[in-house]
Formats: sequence, C-alpha cells, structure tokens
Amino acid sequence: MLSDIQSREIKEVIETCPEVGNILEEYGIGCVPCSVGSCYLSDVVGIHNLDPQTEATLMYRIEKAMYPDRDIPEPKVDLTKKVAPKEINYSPAVRNLVEEHVLIKRMLALIPAITDYVDSSDGVDKELIMGCVDFIRGYADKFHHMKEEDILFKYVDELGEIIQVMYKDHDTGRNHVRQAVEGAESGNKAQIREHLFGYKELLTQHIKKEDEILYPWIDRQLTDKQVGELFQKCSAADASVGEELPRRYEKFIIDLEEKFLKEVSK
Ligand SMILES: [Fe+2]
Ligand SMILES: [Fe+2]
Repeated sequence: MLSDIQSREIKEVIETCPEVGNILEEYGIGCVPCSVGSCYLSDVVGIHNLDPQTEATLMYRIEKAMYPDRDIPEPKVDLTKKVAPKEINYSPAVRNLVEEHVLIKRMLALIPAITDYVDSSDGVDKELIMGCVDFIRGYADKFHHMKEEDILFKYVDELGEIIQVMYKDHDTGRNHVRQAVEGAESGNKAQIREHLFGYKELLTQHIKKEDEILYPWIDRQLTDKQVGELFQKCSAADASVGEELPRRYEKFIIDLEEKFLKEVSK
C-alpha cells in the first residue's frame, strides 16, 4: 500500500532500500546528504511541488523499488501532454531574499581566489579575512538570516524538520566563521582555508535549497494578507538597519571582485 511508505521517515526508508535515495536524486530531491532525514516521505515529495504526473511516477518507482513483488498498477502517463517546467513566482518579500542570495553567492565565488592569495602571501592578511567575516556576519547573517529566522520562518511550523535543517545550517555557518576568525588571529592559513571553504560549500547548498524548495513551499502557504504583512515586516526590518548597509556591503564585494577576479583573469 502506497500510504504505508508515505508515512515512514525518509532516512529509514533509504537505509532499508538505498535505491530510493537514487530515485529521489534523479528527481532533484537530495535527501541522501541531508543530516536530519526524519521528514516523512509524503512531506519530502510534497514540498517539491512536482506536477501530478511526475509525482505519481516517482511514487510508483519508489514503491516498486521497495516491494518488487507487489502488484502495483503503473500510473497512466499521457506522453502527449507536455509538462511545462514550473516557473517559480516568489512573493515580493521572498523575491528580495532571493536577490540578497545573489550578493552572498558573489562572496562565495570569491573565496577560492581569496584563500589562494592568503596561501601565497608571506603572512596572513588579517584585514582582508576580517573584512570577509564582517560581510558574512553583517550582511549574510544579521541582515539576511535574521529576516528568515525572525520573520519568514514564523509563517510555518518552526519545529518542522525542514526549518530545523535551515537553523542548523545557519549555526554551522556561524561556527565556520568563528573558526576562520581564529585562523586569521593565529595566522593559521590551513584553518582559514578549511573553514572558508566549509562555509562556501554549506551556503551554496543552503541557498539552493531555499531558492528552489523552501521559499516556494512557504510562499504557497501564505494567504494574500500574509504576503502583504510579510512584505511590510521585511521592509520595516530593512528600514531599521538603513539603506546604507546593503549598499556598503555591495561596494565591498565590487571592490573584492575588482582586486581578485581581475587578477585571476590576467
Ligand atoms: Fe537561510
Ligand atoms: Fe537565505
């Protein structure tokens, strides 16, 4: 019965039948690397907002992989019906958060050049590392993550696994930053590299999860009234730090790009 697998925890399902992990990966559903894994299979599939045809085929394949001997009717797939790729329409406040990710990703893209520079210098350019740390703490964390944690995540069940994974990522990121600072202070280049790269890997996946899965999932649950309220709350949070802050951090990134990305392309 399909319902009995839908209400099982995904990690346990994948442990019992690793093929399910491969099938989910094929559909862009990355449960294998997720550290939590106690989401139910039905939630995991539901959150990805697949079209009904794709979802039926996915569930059929999962059930078949788990119970090869079960007599499961194959879903009728109308091959003449083209499934249009889903376009993501973010609400205005969420769209702003997606745009903030763009500046954070520009910082992440600079990390290899910055760590190479540190490794090839005589000492450690502490000012440079602390500048990057200031961007991460002031922009990515305080300005951006705080709007997620204090405003956006309040619109869904914060105790749900999906939000808990996001909180855990934010905390892991803060830990990488603390370690990078320690490396800058003690002149430990390997520590700086390890933790700036750790941060890069973590945030790359984190932002992808938010842009493609979490944000659209939250948006789908908001009423029109909540969409307006969310926008007002985020705008008030932005106003409380002032317009100058995001501009200053954007300028910081532009200057780093001038210095490091130009040097790379020379
Ligand atoms: Fe986040
Ligand atoms: Fe984010």
